[in-house]
Amino acid sequence: MIMGSKSAWAIAFCAVLSVSASPTLRTRQSVTPLSQAQIDEYTLPYAYFAAAAYCEPATTSAWNCGTNCGNTSDFVTTATGGNGDDIQFWFVGYSPSLSSVIVAHQGTDPDSLESLLVDGDVSRGELDSDLFPGLDNEIHVHHGFRDSHAAVAQDVLAAVNLTIQAHGVSDVVLVGHSLGSALSLIDSVYLPLHLPEANFRYIGFALPRVGNQEFADYVDSTMSGKIVHITNKDDLVPIIPGRGLGYHHPSGEVHITDDDVWNACPGQDSEADGCTIDDVPNVLVGDVGDHKGPYNGVIISSSTCS
Ligand SMILES: *[C@@H]1O[C@H](CO)[C@@H](O)[C@H](O)[C@H]1NC(C)=O
Ligand SMILES: *[C@@H]1O[C@H](CO)[C@@H](O)[C@H](O)[C@H]1NC(C)=O
Repeated sequence: MIMGSKSAWAIAFCAVLSVSASPTLRTRQSVTPLSQAQIDEYTLPYAYFAAAAYCEPATTSAWNCGTNCGNTSDFVTTATGGNGDDIQFWFVGYSPSLSSVIVAHQGTDPDSLESLLVDGDVSRGELDSDLFPGLDNEIHVHHGFRDSHAAVAQDVLAAVNLTIQAHGVSDVVLVGHSLGSALSLIDSVYLPLHLPEANFRYIGFALPRVGNQEFADYVDSTMSGKIVHITNKDDLVPIIPGRGLGYHHPSGEVHITDDDVWNACPGQDSEADGCTIDDVPNVLVGDVGDHKGPYNGVIISSSTCS
């Protein structure tokens, strides 16, 4: 009796494995290495903006936050917020040299993300229908990310809208690193619902998985070709929470290999050689030391604020 149910379970388990493995094999594609010009385009100055989000709002208000602000010196801040404790710092402003609004959220250290997303509460929930009107309620994101995003969502929206009006522009670039890239990815769903005339782009660094398959599919359909999430070498954050828990990345991964080749990786959660899953098959081989970069020479962490 016990043997019988065990083998039935084993057969069912194998069936699940072969069902999930076959589409991956069928769609397996190879990577496209980026040119130095493309690498520069993705990182300069966006990596500096993502790093500036780690700096105290008093310094990002005045745009006086060390080398991050120094490398983006024409930036004009509209609003800042957060306390760096239970609410991540954020800023919104205008970059004259990019003719774009920039939105950035602060990240966190990889150890606290690992304890949250590997050993902690990985439950998901639907997005608030007041903040996300009309969104399918099957679209679920990590509870903690959702609540951190919601805490500042309306202030960020007001600042983006104000910046668009004040500077007469429609391009908006959403950036962030680590937890900050997760919050900005949720902005890539949230802000277009309220500002349908604006053009949004997303450039994230060290993005953890944020939501379920429906979330990843929604991002792919609404932000097609406008999402780039850059993963560095053996950083483990991009592989958590695991796919086995129902978490999925949208398309748009760019993976930096140990040889400093930047590969554009095809599709969602690409298993292609030279992408994150290939380089970091599980958290045991991950290295939190790679989390902060360097990304094309830019280190993204709170240590770069002075
Ligand atoms: C730009 O950033 C680099 C580090 O990536 C730093 O050495 C340099 O001083 C910065 N430039 C300015 C003007 O802050
Ligand atoms: C953006 O600002 C304009 C002009 O003030 C206003 O009419 C509009 O309602 C605002 N949009 C949002 C989503 O707040």
